[in-house]
Parts: sequence; C-alpha cells; structure tokens
Amino acid sequence: MRHQHILCSQQFSRDDLLELFELTRQTKKDFLSPNGPTLLRKALVGRQMLYMFYEASTRTRISFCQAARHLGMSVDGSDSAGQFSSAIKGETLDDTIRVLCEYRPNVIVLRHTEEGAAQKAAKIADPFGVSIVNAGDGAGQHPTQALLDLFTIWDHFGTSNRRVVIGGDLLYSRTAHSLAYLLSKFGGMHITLFSPRELRMKSEIIAHLYEHSVSFDETDDLEAALKGADVIYWTRVQKERFADLALYERVKDRYVITTETMARMVEPHAILMHPLPRINEIAPEVDADPRSRYFEQAGNGMYLRMALFLKLLAA
Ligand code: NCD
Repeated sequence: MRHQHILCSQQFSRDDLLELFELTRQTKKDFLSPNGPTLLRKALVGRQMLYMFYEASTRTRISFCQAARHLGMSVDGSDSAGQFSSAIKGETLDDTIRVLCEYRPNVIVLRHTEEGAAQKAAKIADPFGVSIVNAGDGAGQHPTQALLDLFTIWDHFGTSNRRVVIGGDLLYSRTAHSLAYLLSKFGGMHITLFSPRELRMKSEIIAHLYEHSVSFDETDDLEAALKGADVIYWTRVQKERFADLALYERVKDRYVITTETMARMVEPHAILMHPLPRINEIAPEVDADPRSRYFEQAGNGMYLRMALFLKLLAA
C-alpha cells in the first residue's frame, strides 16, 4: 500500500484493503498480548501527528491520538479548531496547514466542515512530504471510518457474497458515502440503500455504483430491507447539515431499530453496526442483543488507525 494521503475511499485498491485488514487484525492481537503494547510503542518513535478538528468528535479524534501514542508518536493539535484556532480570526485553512507543515509533522489529521477540505490541505502538504488524513469533510467522506467499518465486516464474515444494508441519512452521512465506495470494490456484495425518500443516497454515489456494476437496490421499506441482510449499517440523521429544521423534525425518528425490530426482521446471524454517536435510531435496549456490534466496531477504530499509521509512516 503506497499512499501519501488518506482522502477518500476510492483511492484504495482491493489489495490495499486486504493488506491493511490483515495488519489491523495482527496489531489488535499484538496489542492485547502481554508484551505487545511495549513492543508496539517502539514502532514509530520520533514521528509526529498533528490534528485539527473543526467539527465535534469523540471517537475519531481520541482513537487517532491513542493509535499514535501506542506507536510511540508524539501528538499535538486542536480539538475545537473552529472556535479556538486562528480560524476565528479569519485565517484560511490553506494558511493554517501551511504553517503546521513548517513544524515538520509526519501526518496531519483533519476534520473540517467543508467538503473537499482534505484535498485542499493535501495540495499544500504535498511538497513538505506531510500526510493528510481526512477525518471527515462536511457531508463528503470519512474514509478511515469506512475502513474500520469494512474491517469489522471482513473480520466477522469475510468480504464475499454478503448483503449489506446501509440505512438512515444517506444524503448527509459521510460514513455511509465512504462505506458505499469501499463496498463497491468487492464483487459479490449486494448493497441495499435504505432511507426516507428525502434522504436518499447522493446521486454521484448511485452513478458510481452503476458504473462499477455493483449489485444494489434502494428502498424505504424497512422490513424488505432488513430481511435476509447479513450486515445492517445504521446511521444518525445528521441534524447539523439540515438547512430546514422542520424537515429534520419530520424524519429524525422515522426509522428506529427496537428489540421488536430485531426479533421480527433481523436474521439470527446478522450483525448490527453504527458509526456512533447513536441518538434515537437504535433503542438502548438493543445493545444487549449479541448481534449489536457498534461498540466493538468503535474499538476496532483504534487498531485500524494504528495499522494505517504503520503503513503510512514506516520508513
Ligand atoms: C460520524 C461522523 O462524524 O461522520 N461519527 C464518527 O466519526 N464515528 C457519524 C456521525 O456523526 O453520525
């Protein structure tokens, strides 16, 4: 796997993904073995990660920081860059990235409100040899989340002949966008796109699925979507992206997964995933169902990000 930046799901080949997933599995195993953490802490000593988060984050930021520290890297940055960095004084993202590059980090992890922000940052960082990692660009993409999502699926089922439902807010969920692109790399996967009509998947992704002859369908019939599915990937209605809050109020609680949904519509062997945070779209009682995998999925994020740093930054 040879990439300077991690910007979008389309950049990965199927071989890249399988290589990364094997390393993630191994890293998780090593980390959980008695001497593993001590050995891993020597892997990337002397490397530096900077992060700039212009939007809220819990899992993504903390798991990136933990991943870097567990590999011996140093870490610094701003977790409310929209309020407390010089952005508030009017500094452009270009200038901020340019300055951070002058501090010679190895990698800058960036979450921004604007779609395409990571691409812009990568252009600035290129000549410095600094890697930009897109940790979410508005309603665009969130490729490292999709990597950990697909890793979780691969770890459980492998990546062939599975039916995956991506459900919820498909218009604005960047994790759903990135996952759809990644799944399109694996023939034999069938994708069901389930959403309220108002929040259907972005047309550019539908076009991509057609172009790559991916087997998929779109529906707003919950029962039809869930029956026969191996993986159910649920998403939050992204309130912060709605210009029309009345529309948000109308759609926000339309598709809630409850214990009754699990009992009646979800196959016994299926797994239920969610990038989190979950608001109302999965009832808390569902957490006790062994098919609910969202907390384990979140935990995988740290190991996937460790593996990603090992691939990106190993000399
Ligand atoms: C997601 C995001 O920020 O896009 N969260 C995450 O990184 N795990 C999903 C969301 O906010 O709904």
